[in-house]
Order: sequence, then C-alpha cells, then structure tokens
Amino acid sequence: MKMKLGFVLCQLLLFIEGTSSNWEDWWTYDGISGPSFWGLLNPEWSLCNKGRHQSPIDIDPTVLLFDPYLRLIQVDKLRISGTIKNTGHSIIFEADTTPSVAKINITGGPLSYKYRFQEIHIHYGKVNSRGSEHSISGYAFPAELQMIGYNSDLYPNMTEAVRLHKNQGLVGVSVMLQSGDLSNAELRILTNQLDKIRYRGQKAHIGHLSVRELLPETDFYITYEGSTTLPGCYETITWIIMNKPIYITKQQLYALRKLKQGDEKKTKAPLADNYRPAQPLNHRVLRTNIDFRRKQGKSCPTMYQDHFYEANSPLWNTGS
Ligand SMILES: *[C@@H]1O[C@H](CO)[C@@H](O)[C@H](O)[C@H]1NC(C)=O
Ligand SMILES: *[C@@H]1O[C@H](CO)[C@@H](O)[C@H](O)[C@H]1NC(C)=O
Repeated sequence: MKMKLGFVLCQLLLFIEGTSSNWEDWWTYDGISGPSFWGLLNPEWSLCNKGRHQSPIDIDPTVLLFDPYLRLIQVDKLRISGTIKNTGHSIIFEADTTPSVAKINITGGPLSYKYRFQEIHIHYGKVNSRGSEHSISGYAFPAELQMIGYNSDLYPNMTEAVRLHKNQGLVGVSVMLQSGDLSNAELRILTNQLDKIRYRGQKAHIGHLSVRELLPETDFYITYEGSTTLPGCYETITWIIMNKPIYITKQQLYALRKLKQGDEKKTKAPLADNYRPAQPLNHRVLRTNIDFRRKQGKSCPTMYQDHFYEANSPLWNTGS
C-alpha cells in the first residue's frame, strides 16, 4: 500500500509539473487522480475516502420510506442571469450574485431552512447508457442536472456553507436527463452556449434562465442526506431526486460530448464521463413523498417493489 501511494504521488507530481500548480485543478474522473484517490490528494478532501454519508448513490426502490410529512418543493419562478462555464471537470452555470439582483429561493420539500439557488452542474456520459451520478436500481441516465443552493438562513454565501463540518449547508435538486426528440426549453438556453465554452476556462453569459422550468412536471421526489459529488465530498447536502426526467436531444448530447477537459493549447480528453460512481448507503434513510399504498389502492408490502419497477421502466422514462 505504501509503495502504491508513493507511486501515485510521484505520478501526480510529474503530472502537476507539466500542467498546473493549482491543487484544485488536478483531480480527475479516471486513473490515478480519479474518484478512488480524491481523499488522498488533499487532506481537506479526506471525506471522499472516509465519509459514510457520501453521494451519489444508487437508489434501491425496495428500501424507500414513505414520509407523509414531506411537503412540495418550492422554487421561485423568476428568470435570472448568470454565467455558464467549462471548469475542465464539469459544466457549471452560476447565478449572478450582484446584491441588486433578485435571488431564487428553494424551500419546502424536506427542507427546514431557506436555500438560495446558486449553481447548476451537469454530469454526462460519452454514451447514453451512463452519465448520471444518481441511478435507480442500477439504471443510469445519459446525464444529470443538479441545482445547488446554499442555506441562506445560516450562511452568508456558498463558500461558507460548504466548509468542513457546517451543518445543513446545501441543497441539491437533481433532475435526470433522458434522451428524447424535444428538449426542455430552458435546457436549450444552456446548451445553446456550449459552442462558446468548448475549452476549460471559457465562459458565456446567459440572460434569462428560469430554474423552475428546468424541473420536470412532477411533485414526487426521493430525498436523503449526502455529500457534494466533487472533492472535498463535504457531507452537508440534502439531495432531492425528482421522480421524472426532463428531455435532452441527440444534438445537445453531441454538443456536450464535444467539450474538452483542457484549454485551447492542450485540449486533453473530452469532458464526458464526469460522474462520480455510486457510494455505499451505510444505513441512511431514503425518504419519498410517493404514497405507494394510496396509488395502488391497497396496502401490500410488495407494492413498494412493484411500483418502483414501474419507475424504472420505459413508461417512467418517457415521462408518461
Ligand atoms: C428570496 O428570499 C429573500 C429573503 O427572504 C427575499 O428577499 C427574496 O425576495 C426572495 N426571492 C424571491 C424571488 O421571492
Ligand atoms: C463569504 O462570506 C465570508 C464571511 O462573511 C467572507 O469572508 C467571504 O469573503 C465570502 N466569500 C465570497 C466568495 O463572497
């Protein structure tokens, strides 16, 4: 083990000499700086290896617990402006934080606090059979869009909210993207800018985005306590996984897959496959507001399983 770690560090040092001197930049989604090593790269990221409330997870429909006290999720309708950028690891949309600009609040659902929407992250695969971070019964979607907000009741900004050992720092509303013929209109506003952010560090302005309209037409979701899915894997995020996908076209997926991890001079590999693998649940509770018994009209434990089979079937995937 010692030798292996020595080897890894040596490789990393070689790697860092050739590229960048910034710690933050040199983690990846594969190889010797990939997800299994994130916790070893930087002492501040130790939760990536040691944490037991990590994300993403594979959702096992048979262990979902119906919670009648879960409320509807509220996301403000307002359109906002911001910046979409290629970070070399992901595509991130960041809301403008100018004090005069209106802020989008995320409340309700399982949340006790008010959260301020701040970022959208997009994870996607090279092929349609993988790409989402969360999966359902082992089924992954071509992509996953995550709306991240920070607890504005307790913390002044995102940076403060994610610092180690802060409680209830973030919310992540996760929407699966399924391949279809017609895209969600707001998603198109984001993907229309992809040509301008082909390489790491490039940014483009977005004028009027409705975060609310990126949500699928469903009130149903699954929620659990987990971590950020990028280093340092901070265990401070309440995840809310919407129970229906929105749609992305072949052309949009193609545009995403053309993006590069590197800059114009050294383009490196495509950005695709930027998802962290599923992490163990470790006895956490997966709650849902889907009342299986009412939906099925009878109370039978096996219905839990049957219903979620449906959730994982083509019926669910086409959103009907
Ligand atoms: C979000 O919450 C803040 C603080 O309570 C409030 O000032 C703001 O108007 C809310 N945003 C919207 C769009 O309602
Ligand atoms: C976040 O808030 C802290 C504490 O108020 C402040 O020191 C820091 O500069 C803020 N960071 C950003 C990015 O605004």
